[in-house]
Amino acid sequence: MDLKGRDFLTLLDYEPEEIEYLIDLAKKLKDDKKNGVMHDVHRGKNIALIFEKTSTRTRCSFEVAAHDLGMGVTYLDPKGSQIGQKESIADTARVLSRMFDGIEYRGYGQDIVKALADYSDVPVWNGLTNEYHPTQLLADLLTIKEHFGRIKGLKWVYMGDARYNMGNSIMIACSKMGMDFTACTSSKYFPDEELVNKCRRYAGQSGGSITLTENIDEGVKDADIIYTDVWVSMGEPEEVWAERINALKPYRVTMDIMKKAGASAIFMHCLPAYHDLGTKVGLDIKEKFGMEELEVTNEVFESERSVVFDEAENRMHTIKAVMYATL
Ligand code: CP
Ligand code: NVA
Repeated sequence: MDLKGRDFLTLLDYEPEEIEYLIDLAKKLKDDKKNGVMHDVHRGKNIALIFEKTSTRTRCSFEVAAHDLGMGVTYLDPKGSQIGQKESIADTARVLSRMFDGIEYRGYGQDIVKALADYSDVPVWNGLTNEYHPTQLLADLLTIKEHFGRIKGLKWVYMGDARYNMGNSIMIACSKMGMDFTACTSSKYFPDEELVNKCRRYAGQSGGSITLTENIDEGVKDADIIYTDVWVSMGEPEEVWAERINALKPYRVTMDIMKKAGASAIFMHCLPAYHDLGTKVGLDIKEKFGMEELEVTNEVFESERSVVFDEAENRMHTIKAVMYATL
């Protein structure tokens, strides 16, 4: 499998065998690291990380993975560079690709990371846009494979805002990998029809399926994975909270939902999560709406069903696999 020089912008651009290869490579790099086997194969290279939105996992994963691969890292935050203010994406791409061997971008529209890739001579990796979060999906698929020993044929239910980066990316991953995807949410938050149709075509080839339903009993029945994400994503205005809470409250992941899903179902979340009052936003929401838990209850989050910290760890190993393979 030769992925050298490839961008990693959305899983739409990757074949199922390539996705599987990256997951298995990540597992190997994870085992190597745990066994103290060095893999600094990219010694002497340098990467740039552009973050127009905040991050804990993605930034740390790129930095730690780059160090493990022997590379130098430069972090650019929105205020500390000229990007978008005094210099276009096209010019930024041409400057950075003269100095760096790879560029990560986290920000707003997919068109921005696409433009960055179009004008760069080096691989560009999507660290989250409004539309897609492909590196998160590699971590989730690795976590699923580690837990169940397989990927194909499993039923993955997404509850929440299924029209945004996580809902879209999970639907694409399921359709490519032969999994059964269900968006179980208010129809207002179903994914975009054009993307659904595209994914149905992939699912037809892979043996997967796509279901959109508002019915909770039907949606979560026989699920292997129950997944949720924040109800309001980075970059969205605060005013959307009221409407979002109103529409998505029935789809909060509770123990009752986990019981309906079945005894072996696991709970997944890309994080960060609002499951208690340990955050500033959580406290603000409690004051305004009287709710102490949002997309998932603390009971589920802290339960044995929850694999959220395995996912978080796997962000690093899978991002490392992407850089290992594409540089
Ligand atoms: N899941 C995820 O992308 O986390 P960060 O926003 O902390 O990078
Ligand atoms: N949908 C969330 C994902 C965070 C990892 C957001 O875009 O904020």
